[in-house]
Amino acid sequence: MIRKSLIYGVAICVMGTSAAFAAGEPVTFTKDILPILQENCQTCHRASGANMSGMVAPMSFMNYQETRPWAKAIVKVTESREMPPWKATEASHGLFKNERVLTEDEIALISTWAKTGAKRGNPADAPALVEWPDAEGWTIGEPDLVVDFPEPFWVEDEVRDLYENIEIILTEEMLPEDRYIKGIQYKPSSEVVHHIIGYSSAPNAESSGDGDRFGRTQLGGMAPGTDPNMLPTGFGILLKAGSKITLQMHYHKEAGPGTGEWDSSQMGLVFHDEEVQHPITIEPIAYGNFEIPPHQKSWRVGARETFEKPILITSLMPHMHLRGAAAKYVAHYPDGSTELLLDVPQYDFNWQIDYFYKEPKLLPAGSSIEVEMRFDNSEDRAAFTYIDPNRAVKFGGPTTDEMDLMWMTYATVEDGSADEAGD
Ligand code: HEC
Repeated sequence: MIRKSLIYGVAICVMGTSAAFAAGEPVTFTKDILPILQENCQTCHRASGANMSGMVAPMSFMNYQETRPWAKAIVKVTESREMPPWKATEASHGLFKNERVLTEDEIALISTWAKTGAKRGNPADAPALVEWPDAEGWTIGEPDLVVDFPEPFWVEDEVRDLYENIEIILTEEMLPEDRYIKGIQYKPSSEVVHHIIGYSSAPNAESSGDGDRFGRTQLGGMAPGTDPNMLPTGFGILLKAGSKITLQMHYHKEAGPGTGEWDSSQMGLVFHDEEVQHPITIEPIAYGNFEIPPHQKSWRVGARETFEKPILITSLMPHMHLRGAAAKYVAHYPDGSTELLLDVPQYDFNWQIDYFYKEPKLLPAGSSIEVEMRFDNSEDRAAFTYIDPNRAVKFGGPTTDEMDLMWMTYATVEDGSADEAGD
């Protein structure tokens, strides 16, 4: 069983917030602040907190002693909306199950607490400590199948960016029959793992470059800041017995003597026991067709794809590299109306969030999805990230080249009815 509220830290309104203001009672850690931290921060900010695919929170906020020294910093990052990390605008508020946002009231309460001496308050007011799952474990629950490297991989000292395809053939013992995948989690085993993309294919298929995306089944992936993927009831990704799993590893680190590291990352899979009505497809809307000229501050790359049958979208995930500045998905409906599905006005390469719908989003037959990305290939960006604004940039693996992968995880509704859509 997945404990959604713990894993996703969904923001809920803290009861009593306005009441405390109104009565002029002092704002205290135990009464007012700890509940906010438990609900919104501790999933990452605790000893061995969530490793968001390489992004690990540098400090713990489990109790007063740990939190007190950070009071000012907490005010700063909550007022600026840097924390908790969430990049989508208000337009999609309430739609995604991994949404991480504080209310205005909560932000004000934190600020008042810090300005009035960051008091501890009465220990008896404190809510019970949250028991977090072991971070060494799997946040998707105990996997039915763990896919391991055949042997650990040595990332050499000289490496700065390296792409390595690790292949694993699923034996009969590992996967005796075809199964539908419900949840996928990637566990990087070292800090040099920048991202992992997984896919399955026929056992004799060639692992190859980026060109043959249709010849294989995407199994999602992880990049800095990604939450593990848990599909809604009734939705699953078909994994055929005897398949080959390819883990496309991107290693990234500073190069130099003594920087080499062993890696043996893992992919954990949870299967559906019950029937699956909605086989899932994971595909990008845009793919590889662009060139960003030098010195452009806001270069637009767009694409549009039409779906002949109705589709149910379970998640959206923009993926760009260091020049990625903004991303947007817009639905165009057959009646001519449009809807902004996801707007990420300040894309952050360090927080590559997969936006998981609470309820799968239904698009009627004949709808299309338009995506728009903005890339910043200017001196401004070169000032805080190691890009070279003097060159034109195309699709490519290294983070100093670019990607325009506007991923979408969805199911095609074959019989024209979406009634059985799960929750
Ligand atoms: C999804 C994981 C996650 C959640 C949830 C989260 N943080 Fe963070 N936080 C991080 C990471 C990772 C960093 C490291 C900073 C970085 O490199 O971006 C960080 C850094 C910080 C910092 C230090 C910033 C600095 O200037 O050094 C503060 C303060 C902070 N978080 C406060 C909070 C508060 C308060 C909350 C809840 C309201 C919160 N965070 C929720 C992951 C998280």
